[in-house]
Amino acid sequence: MEAPLPIVDLGTLTAQLRALRAEALPRITAAPDLAALDELDLHYLGRKVGALSGLMRGIGALPVEDRPRVGAVVNDVREDVESALAAARARAGAAALAARLAAEAVDVTAPARSIPRGTLHPIVETIERITQVFGQFGFVTYEGPEVETDVTNFQMLNIPPDHPSRDLWDTMYVDLDGALLRTHTSPGQIRVMQAERPPIRALLPGRCFRYEATDAAHASEFFQVEGLMVDEGTNLADLKGQLVEFAHAMFGEATATRFRPGYYPFTEPSVAFDIGCLVCGGPGCPACGRTGWMTILGAGMVHPVVLQYGGIDPEQYQGFAFGMGVERIAMLRHGIADIRAFLENDLRFLEQFR
Ligand code: DAH
Repeated sequence: MEAPLPIVDLGTLTAQLRALRAEALPRITAAPDLAALDELDLHYLGRKVGALSGLMRGIGALPVEDRPRVGAVVNDVREDVESALAAARARAGAAALAARLAAEAVDVTAPARSIPRGTLHPIVETIERITQVFGQFGFVTYEGPEVETDVTNFQMLNIPPDHPSRDLWDTMYVDLDGALLRTHTSPGQIRVMQAERPPIRALLPGRCFRYEATDAAHASEFFQVEGLMVDEGTNLADLKGQLVEFAHAMFGEATATRFRPGYYPFTEPSVAFDIGCLVCGGPGCPACGRTGWMTILGAGMVHPVVLQYGGIDPEQYQGFAFGMGVERIAMLRHGIADIRAFLENDLRFLEQFR
């Protein structure tokens, strides 16, 4: 047997619709937030599950002439619930925004916190100063690789295998085929000569490596700046003039200078370049080994064999070269007693170079 249709009449349905509105409006007003309003929206107005839709299903059972009157009440109720929801949503949205603004407020009048500023490492700063001084003499900065070969680090610098002068450089080898960590920046001379034509004025700063027992004056990793000038008629007077100018620019016009004979296989003649001791100024002290002088670089006229390896005709061109230890210069400029300080990255040391 079929279930009997529920008996629906105009009065009952209208009363139910008004009761629904009477229940819904205060609940909407009291809803705490947007999520609660969404739930109420679904509960009352949801197309499938909503209470209003449930009541509207009864309309079909009404006599045809009653239907428009109920329809009008349905519309009234829906509009009232919808506008109550819209008003409540606007309030909840504004409250949420106000809460967020309060929570995220920035006090633009608060005093700024200072951001710690780094400084150039004293080695970098010293290299910059050296390249700046020689830059004024027309020298251009190049860079060579840290891994060189026996050929470029030694042989092309006129240091054959088994030559006794190799004792000057305690070498760290990378493999058995002759790859090694460069013991000086001098192989850069070969690379520049092979890449450029005279006149050449080149500076080559870079990191070098030696198998050293470390102490206050020796590190197994250190920096050099190599210099090379090649042109027609370049001579020892050019070398001396530029280096004296450099010493005065770097350490002050009053700094004393002197050249001594030296020995390097890649230069002939070779010299050592000294400046008057910056600590005692002459009479001798522990810092200068009581000589009154400090050696800051080695230099000389480029050996013809080295020019040839660089692809340059020694009959037409001559050159001078020099190589200086950057740590040495930085220690003299800043009064630093121990070379190891440069690589320790102790902030208490580095922060003094502001
Ligand atoms: N390469 C040398 C060293 O490491 C320094 C040096 C001496 C470089 C004389 C030169 C030079 O260019 O001419 O001890």
